[in-house]
Amino acid sequence: MTKYDFSQCIDRHGTQCKKIEILKQDYGRDDLLPLWIADMDFAVCPEITEALVRRLADHPIYGYTCLYDGYWQSIIDWQREHNGFEFTQDEVTFVAGIVTGFGLAVNFFTKPGDKIVIQQPVYYPFKEVIDGNGRITVNNELIPTEEGLFKMNLEELERIMREEKPRMMVVCNPHNPAGVAWEPEVLREVARMAREHDVIIFSDEIFGDLMLFGHKHTAMATVSEDAAAVTVTCGAPSKTFNIAGLKSSWCVVKNPKLREPFFKWIEINELCNANLVSIIATEAAYRNGAQWLDECLRYIEGNVEYVQQYCKEHIPGIVAVKPQAGFLVWLDCTGLGISHEEVISLFRDKAGLAMNEGMMFGEAGRCHMRFNMGSPRCVIEQAMHQLEAAVKN
Ligand SMILES: Cc1ncc(COP(=O)(O)O)c(C=O)c1O
Repeated sequence: MTKYDFSQCIDRHGTQCKKIEILKQDYGRDDLLPLWIADMDFAVCPEITEALVRRLADHPIYGYTCLYDGYWQSIIDWQREHNGFEFTQDEVTFVAGIVTGFGLAVNFFTKPGDKIVIQQPVYYPFKEVIDGNGRITVNNELIPTEEGLFKMNLEELERIMREEKPRMMVVCNPHNPAGVAWEPEVLREVARMAREHDVIIFSDEIFGDLMLFGHKHTAMATVSEDAAAVTVTCGAPSKTFNIAGLKSSWCVVKNPKLREPFFKWIEINELCNANLVSIIATEAAYRNGAQWLDECLRYIEGNVEYVQQYCKEHIPGIVAVKPQAGFLVWLDCTGLGISHEEVISLFRDKAGLAMNEGMMFGEAGRCHMRFNMGSPRCVIEQAMHQLEAAVKN
């Protein structure tokens, strides 16, 4: 028996929902089925809503807010219990979003002209933050695997670290867009190299609690002493519990030589001042959201399996790659035998679907689309029917 209902269609029009409001601006049409930006169309667990209503409706003053012990402890307990990632209250700070946290780390730990490694295809704002801050992006292109996922090119990474002397590297852990859960041995090897070549690792673990099909998340900072010494980790309840609009994230740095000056700079610039709503929701999610999350993940797995099967039976030119984490599916459309631009037009103009086009993540995204599975099954079914009709026409 399940407790929560993920099949309910909730109209998000008129709720400042980015997925819908900027369709016209980004896709040129506002009548598309929105399956792009990475939030989910599921109601949050009622325990979060109840905690928010209790605080906002029952007390009429919303003054300056402090980050209280119960808030910190909920993050610490969740990470220890779910990911074996242990840290103390001194080792964690608040940041208002993961990209914000990355921007802070880039500005604090590197200077203009420094090189920062990313591994494409990857979440595109990393490159935007690096380039936009006058740093230089170095791409260590991921290697496609037979299953349509990716592995790291460790040999090339070591060459880059030795010869190009980057100051920082981003590990998207688990990896967006294809949903790869990196193996501990791979992360250990990356950390060994990073420490040897004096490279700081920024580990983005926003998808770390959304593990699918029995895969386990490995927090970068836990894999070795090297990893703990060089890693700045950012994580959040935002994707996990569908509260991305509340901008609540956390940043952990185990090494005091990195942490103390970084956290001090964050504090004096008041970059860790949380808003009331975000911390109430965070504590409620981490304390009371485990069952909701478990049911949500099973529902997403069902969506993924449905899409995979549907493609096999009805649209063999498209392969839905099975993700190990997250709620995004990487659609390999190379079998359709058309150009990347034609794939984009097929999805948008003929099928009426708004998905992320693969090349925004890098060259390996050619003829790929990223499909958000965080919607009720009936929406996913509708999308597949529209896609099939478009391909067959
Ligand atoms: C890998 C990854 N990191 C970070 C973010 C954005 O996080 P935030 O909204 O907290 O900046 C996303 C959003 O899709 C993401 O996929």
